[in-house]
Amino acid sequence: MTTASAPGKIILVGEHAVVYGRPAIAVPITKVKATVTVEEAARGAGCVIVASDLGRTIRVAEAAPDDPLAAIVRLTLAHFRVQDLDATITIKSTIPIASGMGSGAAVSTAIARALAAHLGFTLNNDVLSGLVFETEKLYHGTPSGVDNTVIAHARPVFFVRNRLIENFAVKSPLHLLIADTGISSPTKATVADVRKAWEADQEKYDAWFRQIGQIALMARAAIIAGEHSALGSLMDGNQWLLEQVGVSSPEIDCLVQAARRGGALGAKLSGAGRGGNIVTLTTEQTQDGIADILRDAGAKSVIAATIT
Ligand code: PMV
Repeated sequence: MTTASAPGKIILVGEHAVVYGRPAIAVPITKVKATVTVEEAARGAGCVIVASDLGRTIRVAEAAPDDPLAAIVRLTLAHFRVQDLDATITIKSTIPIASGMGSGAAVSTAIARALAAHLGFTLNNDVLSGLVFETEKLYHGTPSGVDNTVIAHARPVFFVRNRLIENFAVKSPLHLLIADTGISSPTKATVADVRKAWEADQEKYDAWFRQIGQIALMARAAIIAGEHSALGSLMDGNQWLLEQVGVSSPEIDCLVQAARRGGALGAKLSGAGRGGNIVTLTTEQTQDGIADILRDAGAKSVIAATIT
């Protein structure tokens, strides 16, 4: 039996604009993860995926071509030129679904890693990220690639579409809180709506995306310098721009405002928006108090994470 896992992720700055070629910063969240085990099955059994959290059992040979779980199995086997495999692939995940934490990409990453280990191959992170990107297209339509990149590499990344990843040093630990609005929001629909709005008024949207890109550049400099108040203000500025883009929601605004009133250095939605999670930057001292404030303000769950 082989087991592999992959973390969740959060986008610190740059979502949506990243789809249009602007930079984004994403960090892995190791407190939540997808774990996959692969066990040999009886000869002729084929590959069966058991995703009990989703209430699904999938026979890979019979699954639709656009089933992302079956697709990552097929892609990984094809990558290693393996034609037949009799195996049971069991998925367990603590990453909330459809809430901007990269659950789909993490499950695909863990499946590919566990299968590679089961077959006795090594899979480097760039190749792994590329395989997962193919399944991200099935989940999201036109993904930027930020989710598969940060999750496969499991390190903070400065990401620009179609460019090699850039890592950077985090000078002093970032204390984050990730608070769930409880509203599940599929990325595909929100990204498609933003595209329609962009097509209708490219000049206006491109200007917002350009500003978001500048925020990502300044945020990287602030993280490298350990300037957390500057980073917090940049996150607030990013939230304002995301509100203009039309991807915030009353529930997001409520949690963002609660975090700021509680003394957070900055707060914004994370991921596609219209629901899902917010991310807020605190200090070590204020982290617990602001977590309580977020719960009082209606957060369905609050995850504390320290990024080093
Ligand atoms: O909702 P998530 O975590 O999958 O993030 C989506 C981020 C977007 O920038 C909105 C889309 C993308 O592909 O980068």
